[in-house]
Amino acid sequence: MKGVILAGGSGTRLHPLTRITNKHLLPIYDRPMISYAIESLVLAGITEMMLVTGGTHAGEFLRLLGNGDEHGIDRLLYAYQDRPGGIAEALGLAERFVGDDGVLVMLADNIVEHTFRPTVEHFAVQGNGARILLTEEHDPVHLRHLGVPELDGDRRVTRIVEKPEDPPSTYAVTGIYCYDPQVFDVIGTLEPSGRGELEITDVNNWYVGQGTMEYDVLDGFWGDAGESIDAYYAVNDFVRIHGANKT
Ligand code: TTP
Repeated sequence: MKGVILAGGSGTRLHPLTRITNKHLLPIYDRPMISYAIESLVLAGITEMMLVTGGTHAGEFLRLLGNGDEHGIDRLLYAYQDRPGGIAEALGLAERFVGDDGVLVMLADNIVEHTFRPTVEHFAVQGNGARILLTEEHDPVHLRHLGVPELDGDRRVTRIVEKPEDPPSTYAVTGIYCYDPQVFDVIGTLEPSGRGELEITDVNNWYVGQGTMEYDVLDGFWGDAGESIDAYYAVNDFVRIHGANKT
């Protein structure tokens, strides 16, 4: 299984901090944000990964991560996204790197309390299709800002609704996804959304339509440090007190 970490985008919700640097280089407690995503993939048993970034600070990632050996990575590749054309577009840049393998994709602004290694193991058993990680969210106001799945009793996702008025469950889709290599064919068929991006939700809903989208529920805290300045500080506070990527 290969890993792809997405660290491009524009980070407008953290302006003006992200006018002068890439969001994923901002600190979370005592390390740059990107370090947590790298660590979480290594802990999940993934040692070959590609980091996709863009903008004017791409070079800093090389300075921080180098060839990855200090971080327990066997092979670290980089890709440059010319413009923030969406999460699915960024993933598309990893097509040749992933080849015929499965891929775990992580948005680099996501921070988890506990390792998601069990999901990588479950996906290996699943064999094909896709698998997403969910987090429990009981606050209906927050749910209305997230992607919310509808679930059947058989560990399958039957629908994902973005920013639902009426959330179909008390779970939210995190930015951690597993796909079979078909994902790149799916990305090739996507049309840009109203905001001009290739949307990962469209990819996920394609697998839902095939009946091959399964899920796990993440154990413990999950945070999207790019959601707002308050979320950024809430994630910092959590990590400072409780730590992250615990096994
Ligand atoms: P978002 O948070 O959806 O987008 P963004 O980072 O551009 O932020 P904002 O909405 O505040 O402007 O993206 C989630 C993650 O996906 C983010 O950590 C970076 C990555 N990403 C890319 O790598 N390329 C892209 O084109 C986009 C849009 C996001």
